[in-house]
Amino acid sequence: MDIKGKNVLITGASSGIGAAAAIEAASRGAFPILVARRRNELERIAAMIQNNTGRLPLFQNCDITEKSDRSALIEWLEKEIESLPLLINNAGITAHGRFDKTRPEVLERTMQVNFFAPVFLTQEILPLMRKAEGKKKIVLVSTPSALHGVPGRFAYSASKAAGHAWIETIRIELKEEGFDTLLFCPGYTTTALRTSGLAGDGSTLEEEQASGARTPEDVAKLLLTSVRKDDRISFTNAAGRYLYYMRTMAPGTLENALGKKLKKDFQK
Ligand SMILES: NC(=O)c1ccc[n+]([C@@H]2O[C@H](COP(=O)([O-])OP(=O)(O)OC[C@H]3O[C@@H](n4cnc5c(N)ncnc54)[C@H](OP(=O)(O)O)[C@@H]3O)[C@@H](O)[C@H]2O)c1
Repeated sequence: MDIKGKNVLITGASSGIGAAAAIEAASRGAFPILVARRRNELERIAAMIQNNTGRLPLFQNCDITEKSDRSALIEWLEKEIESLPLLINNAGITAHGRFDKTRPEVLERTMQVNFFAPVFLTQEILPLMRKAEGKKKIVLVSTPSALHGVPGRFAYSASKAAGHAWIETIRIELKEEGFDTLLFCPGYTTTALRTSGLAGDGSTLEEEQASGARTPEDVAKLLLTSVRKDDRISFTNAAGRYLYYMRTMAPGTLENALGKKLKKDFQK
């Protein structure tokens, strides 16, 4: 898919991978539309894009878990643009904690942000996407943790795995109308994700960045390259590819490796 000259709506564009994807998409000639809750951060990223390209991108603050916010977003979009060929569902939170130590509201919030919100937003935005000529694409920024339940991360794994089932379904259902999909599963990336997520007791996480993490700028480049190449699923590191293949080739070995990771996490 060639994104040059096309509208690209990116959720979670106020920081991390989403902000870097908006900057990268604009540098590749696309017209990014930035969406997240923090308007001041959206303004800052939009000003950076204007500085780089001479064109101020559209941006709108929206809590994607709130129906009224999503309705206002769609109403605004219908006035601002004619069609939307590319939607990147990137906004997300992480959640850490064992199954037996995670409060129900942590699971509910994680499912709301990572699963229900992108599903509902995509349903509501489909009429605008259907107006686009040629290829249309729906992207879910997921994680390798969706490929197999990860101990100590069950809420996060489950919320993103549900997203995989959804994307795989619409890939088939919407194909005849010219829709394509991408499951983009980045490895550790240096963003706010590990400090803005939820712990099992509902408090905010305060984790250090994982070693070997990539920059959001690198990851955004890989994301847009996967969009261009029409990948079905893509990874940014060996851990993602390892989980993908081991899940079917050697599930017992994979379970042992994940069990060792759990013990190591607890020693920390
Ligand atoms: N960083 C990693 O290591 C990593 C690895 C694998 C996958 N991912 C995935 O990458 C995606 C982006 O995360 P990131 O790493 O770039 O983290 P981040 O810097 O924390 O970005 C998360 C973005 O989501 C937005 N967001 C959160 N809740 C929202 C809501 N209710 N409504 C609208 N926007 C909301 C945040 O904006 P506001 O706070 O302004 O709303 C922010 O822009 C996530 O889906 C995550 O699961 C990240």
